[in-house]
Amino acid sequence: MPDREERLAAMLDAVEAVVDTDSPRLLDLAGGTGTITLRALARFPRARVTLVDLDPALLALARASLGDRAVVLTADLARPDWPGRLPHRDYDAVLTATALHWLPAERLTELYGELRDLLRPGGLFVNADRMPDDALPTLTDRLTARARERRAARHAAGAALSWSDWWARAGTDPVLGPLVRRRHEIYPTGHSPEWNPPVSWHLGALTAAGFTEAGTLWRGGADAAVAALR
Ligand SMILES: C[S@@+](CC[C@H](N)C(=O)[O-])C[C@H]1O[C@@H](n2cnc3c(N)ncnc32)[C@H](O)[C@@H]1O
Repeated sequence: MPDREERLAAMLDAVEAVVDTDSPRLLDLAGGTGTITLRALARFPRARVTLVDLDPALLALARASLGDRAVVLTADLARPDWPGRLPHRDYDAVLTATALHWLPAERLTELYGELRDLLRPGGLFVNADRMPDDALPTLTDRLTARARERRAARHAAGAALSWSDWWARAGTDPVLGPLVRRRHEIYPTGHSPEWNPPVSWHLGALTAAGFTEAGTLWRGGADAAVAALR
């Protein structure tokens, strides 16, 4: 994902615009290994960050790299009781990337309402993911195909590990191996359903969930980051 840093920087610029403290409460939703949390802590060293995810292998990596700089929790976003163990109910921002396409439409609609309730008034939600522009269906298909070809070429040349090769290698690691096997039980297909609605779907769902503003914060090809304010 060549423009990954760009989208994460746009996310943190938006956080900076809505907080008036140097220790914001941030929730890294489906945070995986903690890449958003690490960047958030680089920008706001005194931030109080909570990371939630369901994957035991990725959570182990997050705990190892974050140590006591963030609260790292196991939570299943598919279940409405997931906020139960969160340390705050008044987050300044909830941030997520490349993750919520794992959830079906009905559940994501409910989750948007739950996230609104976890934010303080004026708090920010940002979701960066594959989110096509409604008005550009043909170009989106072509951009997606080109990106896939470029990625395949990098994998074939050995310039980067593919998703499946990364998981295969993690599975042979003595520490991660047992956690990867547990992961495969949790996610039996090994990948998301790849349900990627356009930006308009997200903006409609965020508005219906009660956010006061919702719009596009960033776009790169077929990917976008939508932002919403409580
Ligand atoms: C592609 S990773 C992205 C991780 C991180 N946001 C990042 O950008 O590096 C997708 C993440 O969504 C998480 N995820 C998928 N379904 C989930 C669920 N039901 N509850 C919690 N996390 C989930 C996966 O475990 C994985 O860490």
